[in-house]
Amino acid sequence: MKERVVVVTGGNRGIGHEICRQLAKLDLMVVLTSRHEKDGLEAVTNFNKNEFPVRFCPLDVTNPSQILELTDFLTKEFGRCDCLVNNAGIFLDNQDGNFFNTDVATVRQTMETNVYGPYLLCQALLPLMRKNNYGRIVNISSGLGQLNDMGGGYLAYRMSKTAINVITRVLAVELAGTNILVNSMCPGWVKTRMGGSGATRSVEEGADTAVWLSTLPDGGPSGKLFRDRKEVSW
Ligand SMILES: NC(=O)c1ccc[n+]([C@@H]2O[C@H](COP(=O)([O-])OP(=O)(O)OC[C@H]3O[C@@H](n4cnc5c(N)ncnc54)[C@H](OP(=O)(O)O)[C@@H]3O)[C@@H](O)[C@H]2O)c1
Repeated sequence: MKERVVVVTGGNRGIGHEICRQLAKLDLMVVLTSRHEKDGLEAVTNFNKNEFPVRFCPLDVTNPSQILELTDFLTKEFGRCDCLVNNAGIFLDNQDGNFFNTDVATVRQTMETNVYGPYLLCQALLPLMRKNNYGRIVNISSGLGQLNDMGGGYLAYRMSKTAINVITRVLAVELAGTNILVNSMCPGWVKTRMGGSGATRSVEEGADTAVWLSTLPDGGPSGKLFRDRKEVSW
């Protein structure tokens, strides 16, 4: 059996799908999760056809009972979880959205997926990491959440990506002295459904730093934000 088990959220397409591919290629046991069973199973079937043995577990990150079911699945199938990549994300803000015309429903919905989902997943899966004193948590953030370069517009998305960085920082402090490393990364502007066709980066480039952080050696960095494998400021 493969030694390390990694969970990737939103693995059916975009950057998450490419993270699954690269991690499976490194011989990790990838559990690809997707909120729509059909999309997830299709992605897994394609991986398996190409000789990447990837497993599937349905997961809408806003659904707490599915988070429990994922935890049960990991416990029963592998007895472990070594890595969590919080990749699933939404971008609901309008192009012309600003502080005053962003409605609270947009903010709430964005936070549910981009922040509360990852928060609940960390709470659910950390006991499985603590059991083996090994864990890597990778939170997919964005330059739009960087406080040092904060611009206007995209309020809901910016709030969510700054907030996921808070999860990274707080968890890293609370897990100091353990072999569980927690980091955020920004993939850059990537050609996906979210990034659009005008984006400057391929999914391969967008996934690279997340894959690197998922496989950090013991004693590696924790509580940091990375882009292109280099630490950047918050
Ligand atoms: N693309 C960029 O330029 C860029 C830049 C900076 C950061 N990011 C971040 O990178 C991550 C991946 O983005 P992407 O560009 O690959 O976007 P994408 O192509 O739109 O893919 C988003 C993924 O998240 C999934 N998802 C959305 N809501 C979900 C939920 N409630 N539960 C489970 N899965 C859910 C989607 O599933 P469905 O197929 O079911 O919708 C899809 O698999 C996101 O966190 C995003 O914020 C992207």
